[in-house]
Amino acid sequence: MLNRFKTRHGWTGEPWGVSEAAANAPPQDQTASVPEKMIQLDSVSVAYDDKVAVSDVSFRIGKNEIVSFLGASGCGKSTILNVIAGFIQPTSGYAFVSGKQITSPGPDRAVVFQSNALFNWLTVAGNITYSLKCRGAPASERASTARDMLQLVGLAGIGEKYPYQLSGGMRQRVGLARALAAKPDVILMDEPFAAVDVQTRETLQEEVLKIQDKTNSTIICITHSIDEAVFMGSRIFLFSSKEPGRHEEYVVDLPSPRWKPENRIHPNFLSLRNELYLKMRGDSAHETVLP
Ligand SMILES: Nc1ncnc2c1ncn2[C@@H]1O[C@H](COP(=O)(O)OP(=O)(O)OP(=O)(O)O)[C@@H](O)[C@H]1O
Ligand SMILES: [Mg+2]
Repeated sequence: MLNRFKTRHGWTGEPWGVSEAAANAPPQDQTASVPEKMIQLDSVSVAYDDKVAVSDVSFRIGKNEIVSFLGASGCGKSTILNVIAGFIQPTSGYAFVSGKQITSPGPDRAVVFQSNALFNWLTVAGNITYSLKCRGAPASERASTARDMLQLVGLAGIGEKYPYQLSGGMRQRVGLARALAAKPDVILMDEPFAAVDVQTRETLQEEVLKIQDKTNSTIICITHSIDEAVFMGSRIFLFSSKEPGRHEEYVVDLPSPRWKPENRIHPNFLSLRNELYLKMRGDSAHETVLP
């Protein structure tokens, strides 16, 4: 089927992929060649013992982009995110952020998980500014950062509350505020809204897009929701359920500002959502008949 949204097929990712020689080149050579890209993966594979979680993944994500990762459970989405976060090292290949090879976590990248493990013994403000405290930021800076971040996520004035006093949606907002407090270049979200109700989830999606408008962060958002992937992403990487790490890319063509709720019923939204649905159903139907 002709697809006006789909841009590239498969992991080889022309024209973004690199040659074998480039993939094997020393990291500093590649660093120099991609200054404008925020995130770059070149032929990244990750194996856990003898289990290959992702194989030969290459892509680039530009500054200020939001890319949705969509795909069946176990296809390697979180593994790729963890490589970019610096939590795990590729078994082979290279990963870069801002042109520097990723070797460990860093303040330039923040991670928002499905269930944000807030520290229950710290106030909301204490949670948000925990990383600032760790690096020795003065109390005045921490107080103003907490105030600004709470304002940004729509929770002004609750800095002195404790996490147990908040709803699930409010806790997710605090998790987001905590991620934003370090002013990261990259925000990595792993099913960030999976645990909240539909209304809150839609509100949070819109808030993240508004925040991205203000902060110009680069965002990767992993989700199992096709609607969420289309609403949030400027591009979607649809990962294969059969070959770990293999993905197809789709460009989302929706009017700006992207956070407008009307975009959820825009013809392009509905058309792409339907196409992804059929594609994913086709993949999983095919999988069930395999021996
Ligand atoms: N620490 C680990 N040790 C061994 N295998 C792992 C580990 N983490 C992940 N895996 C395996 O690697 C593969 C990819 O896992 P990953 O968590 O990246 O998938 P995912 O796409 O994020 O799935 P989900 O949508 O369910 O979160 C899976 O087969 C999983 O069982
Ligand atoms: Mg996962």
